[in-house]
Amino acid sequence: MTQRPFQTIDEMMAAGPNAAIEDPYSLYARARRETPVLEVAGFGSPARFLMRFEDVQSALRDWETFSSVSNGERGIAIVIGRTIIGMDGREHLRNRALVTPAVAPRALRGDFPAMVRRIADELIDRFAGKGSAELVRNFTYLFPIRVFVEPLGLPAADIERFHNWAIDLTQVANDPPRGLAASAAIREYLKPIIAAKRSEPADDIISTLVTSEVEGERLGDEHIANFLCLLIMAGAETTYHLIGSTLYALLTHGAALEEVRAHRDRIPLAVAETLRWESPVQVVTREAQADVEMSGVLIKKGTDVVIGIGSANRDESQFEDPDRFDLHREGAEHIAFGFGRHYCAGSRLALLEAEIGLGALFERLPNLRMDEGAEPGNMSGFAFRSPTSLPVVFD
Ligand code: HEM
Repeated sequence: MTQRPFQTIDEMMAAGPNAAIEDPYSLYARARRETPVLEVAGFGSPARFLMRFEDVQSALRDWETFSSVSNGERGIAIVIGRTIIGMDGREHLRNRALVTPAVAPRALRGDFPAMVRRIADELIDRFAGKGSAELVRNFTYLFPIRVFVEPLGLPAADIERFHNWAIDLTQVANDPPRGLAASAAIREYLKPIIAAKRSEPADDIISTLVTSEVEGERLGDEHIANFLCLLIMAGAETTYHLIGSTLYALLTHGAALEEVRAHRDRIPLAVAETLRWESPVQVVTREAQADVEMSGVLIKKGTDVVIGIGSANRDESQFEDPDRFDLHREGAEHIAFGFGRHYCAGSRLALLEAEIGLGALFERLPNLRMDEGAEPGNMSGFAFRSPTSLPVVFD
């Protein structure tokens, strides 16, 4: 993918959520100084873009003023329908309580880590003997979706079919017809599975959803299918970006790479710093429900608000020398999993997957390093970011 130099944030946004954007951060740094509540053309209607950490955090905390309602109507709601990311208040809390147990730390103990490691090993087995590989295509893209199939309770024989749909679903921003076709196919595919789990529930996420009640009522098939599509997108797409970006960060920072190779127990430090340095989810959106002031700028009721998580995580008021990738950074906590009521429900799962997946790669591929002879990949993307490719060699 060729890199395009962007002069303004508007230009970058217009290029689309997955455009080849190598460095949005210099534009964000200038905006934090000069226009912290930047007016942008938005995704269809004029919007305000929050750049500073403090404004980002306050907006995410104040869910009454900064409502999530638009996330239930536009963007990915087109393929996944209305889900908790588009709900507010009590309705959100009641529905969120249904999904959190399935991805909570309790559910991730027992056999779960061993299953995640087995899936990582199966993927690595395919290229470990070759001495070189392209890790986006052969590992980071495949691993998180595969990890999701078993806990959902889908038949193992359907992995390939389901995997293809899940990938198509995550492509909705680039290719809406492909995303919509996948959404329809997943829903058709799930119908008999949901019916079977209703008559004979097992110990899996779909069974939990079919037996759950909100306000005394069982969830309908469509509601369950929406939830599952959300989990597939939220769970697979984001973690894929995180693992790719952590590899990119390490492979392009020699001292950090050597340290992690020699001390694999420091992989969690690399994952945490990557969440800040190259936040996989760069922006989330809200709609102002009242006139509100941020950094001295009035945001009018009804305005779409773009919340700059990626910019906040590079804010020099919180992070010293914020553009530096630093395994041993101290001080403020990143805000990559969001904040407040919509804080990422799957953060523990994402960390566990990333740490086990990267641990397996560094253990199984000695002296893992960038393939200097191959065309290098670049960091890319506006809404979600990760490297386009990761050509590596190993001993
Ligand atoms: C690197 C990985 C991940 C990142 C960076 C990430 C980031 C985020 C962010 C920023 C939000 C807040 C959205 C908002 O405020 O509008 C969110 C919400 C959410 N995430 Fe994640 N996520 C990750 C992985 C996962 C995984 C593995 C799951 C698995 C199930 C998951 C499930 C969810 C769900 C269900 C929500 C909605 C929570 C709500 O609206 O109450 N995420 N995530």
